[in-house]
Parts: sequence; structure tokens; C-alpha cells
Amino acid sequence: MSIIHDALKKVEKEGVYQEPQSPKTAQPAPPSPVTGKKRGGFSLHIPSLSLRKNLLGVDIGSSSIKLVHLACSGGACRLKDVGYVKLPYGAGESGAAKALKTLLSVHGIGRSRVSSSIRNKSLTFSHIKLPKMPKDDLTEAVRWEVKKGIDFPEDAIIDYVVIDELMEEGKTKLSIMTFAVRKEEVMGHVGMLKEASLIPDVIDVGPMALLSAFDYNYGWEKDKRYAVLDIGASKATLSIISNGSLRFARYIPLAGDDITRIIQDAEGTDFQAAEDKKLRYAGVNDAPEVVRTAVKSFKEGISIEVRRSFTYYQAHLREGWVDSLLLSGGSANIKGLAENIGSAVGVKTAIYDSMKRVEVKRALPRGADITPLSPIFVEAFGLALRREGE
Ligand SMILES: Nc1ncnc2c1ncn2[C@@H]1O[C@H](COP(=O)(O)OP(=O)(O)OP(=O)(O)O)[C@@H](O)[C@H]1O
Ligand SMILES: [Mg+2]
Repeated sequence: MSIIHDALKKVEKEGVYQEPQSPKTAQPAPPSPVTGKKRGGFSLHIPSLSLRKNLLGVDIGSSSIKLVHLACSGGACRLKDVGYVKLPYGAGESGAAKALKTLLSVHGIGRSRVSSSIRNKSLTFSHIKLPKMPKDDLTEAVRWEVKKGIDFPEDAIIDYVVIDELMEEGKTKLSIMTFAVRKEEVMGHVGMLKEASLIPDVIDVGPMALLSAFDYNYGWEKDKRYAVLDIGASKATLSIISNGSLRFARYIPLAGDDITRIIQDAEGTDFQAAEDKKLRYAGVNDAPEVVRTAVKSFKEGISIEVRRSFTYYQAHLREGWVDSLLLSGGSANIKGLAENIGSAVGVKTAIYDSMKRVEVKRALPRGADITPLSPIFVEAFGLALRREGE
């Protein structure tokens, strides 16, 4: 299941939104059976003998675009192509659309079926508990609850995943994670992909892609709780996963741009000069005072937020503490960040290697090293595991 994609299909079917269909545009495939739910054997990745091709994974972030193309068969994947382009600060939709076209053309990618995650201006996650009830009633009840908490109730695509069943005050309740996003944002994203001659097959949310990537690269130990913290430029996304399911997701409003802005304010320079300074010094020991101060305050702030989220998760879902944490996204590369967060929350923490189990050699020029970019590609990698028509 692709959360947003399924919800979007429902919206189209109900006729709430009818997207004009171009005769040249292929119809999106039926919803995929791959879900965030537990499958037998704790694996989402089903080794397949099918000859269906993998979709092109497209992650359009606020500061960069990432492309990953895989060829998977018999449960193993080979990297066919990987692409990355930085966006100018404040590029907006039109800047991103232009950069996407350029990146595709540099890689010689024409009309292709893609799997892409939505840019999240309005995407919200929430966790609610409701009494157990029949599915149709539950869907209505979830919509009702979610609409109360968002400022775009009439314009929302809403979907949910039931995480657990639990007993409270003698009643069976369902613990539910909900997703809501503005319809027009999803349509805008789909439009941007089509405009670049791509065929959007799957539109999903970041945490589901992180879950698939984890499933392929790391695999599960029964009942262990893993957290993935994706720290990009504009936001961080914390996902907690266990036994093949997404259990919790939350945005943390702290990311790489916040460090840059502190440097910018202190130095009175423009954003790009501050960003360059951050990137030059964030990885060295003898960084100037201004960079050290900005990085230190970021590390402290994000550690507090992660601890708070783990505490909430533990109390709300009545689960144990998280067992291990992986950091992805560009800001995961900040020197010492994994160690700092790890010791602040008391959890073994490492940088996420998106290409851990992937054969990469043939896709890269001889001697090229993809290691520093590996955490940046996690979301695109998870998206690229999807196959045509699945
Ligand atoms: N080596 C590094 N050290 C410190 N920060 C880094 C490093 N490399 C990249 N970054 C930071 O990572 C961020 C970009 O990461 P990424 O490409 O994952 O973000 P994005 O996906 O575009 O953003 P978002 O997910 O928030 O929309 C920028 O803030 C950049 O400065
Ligand atoms: Mg990102």
C-alpha cells in the first residue's frame, strides 16, 4: 500500500477531484499490495521472480533532488543509476521543476514510470486511539478526528494505518496513525512529475519509503524497535518501525537550514555564504566559533526532541524504549551528531547506509565513492524498490 497513492485513488473514484486525463498519459497502476503492515517472516521485500521493472525513485527535497534506479531480481538489487542535484536556496516549485528536467536530461532519462514521495508542506501525522469498530465506520471516525486537528479540513486527503489493538478501561481500542495532506499539493507534485515527462505510478510519504529501505538493507530482529531520523534541510522526520510495520512518525521542526540561519544571523552574510561555511567546517575539529556554536545548539535541540518523541512513543503505545537509531538525510553527516544523539537518548546510533546490500560498482565511474551521499539517498532508495504495477 502506498498511503497517499491509495487515498488519492479513492478521492478520484469518489469524484471529489477529477484530474484531467491526458490521452498520452498511462494510467497509474492499481494500488500495490506492499504495505506498512507486518508480513510473515518480517520482510516487506518479497524476493520476486517477476520480470516487472523497478520504478525510478524520485525524492524532491527542499534543498536537493535525488534519483535512484535499481534493478532487483531474486531478492538482490543492483544500482543502475543514481542522480543528485542541489537546488538553489528558495528555489520554489518552478525552480525544482526546472532542476528536475535538467537532472533527467543529464542522465538520459526519458519518459519513465516513477515512485515519488510528496514534498510535505502540509503533510501531517497524528496518533489517535478509537474504539474498535467496523472498517467503514472506522474510516469515517478517523476522517472526523483528523479534520478537527487540521486547518484544511475540506481540502484534505486523509488516510491511516491501524498500528495496534489494546485494552483500555475494559474496552478494546485501536491505536492508529493518520496522515493528512492538502489535495492540491499532491496534485501539484503529480503535475511537476508529468511536466518532466515522468509517469507517476506511486506517490507515497517519506516514512513508508524509509521503512522499505530499512527492510531491504538491514532486516528485522523480532520485536526490536528501530528508529530512523531523516534530517534534511527544512525538517527532520522521525519514524519508529518494528516487526515490519511503521509504528510512529513525527516531524521535528529542526534541520540543516537552522544551523545555516544561525551562522547567517551571526555573520550578517547571505544564506548561501553561511551554508558554504557550514559545509566547509561542519566536518572538522577546529571549526570557527560561530560554526561550533550553531552546530552545538542544533545537536542539543534535536537530541531533546528525539528523547521527547521516544518517551511519548513509549507511553502512548505502551512499548519499550527504542533499541537502535539510524540517521539519514544530508545533515546526518554532521561530525559527531550520531554519537551525540546516541548518548543523549541512550540508544546505539549510526549513519544509515542506503547502499549497504546493493551492488553499486557498475553504476559508478571507477574509483568513485558514494559513501558520503549514501545517507542522503535513503528515501529515494526506498521509493526505487517499488516495481511497476505492484
Ligand atoms: N557534510 C555535511 N555536513 C553538514 N551538513 C550537511 C552535509 N552534507 C549535507 N548537509 C546538509 O544537509 C541538508 C540537505 O540534506 P538533504 O538533501 O537530505 O535535504 P532535503 O531532502 O533537500 O531536505 P528536506 O528533506 O528537509 O526537504 C542541508 O542542510 C545541507 O547543508
Ligand atoms: Mg529529504
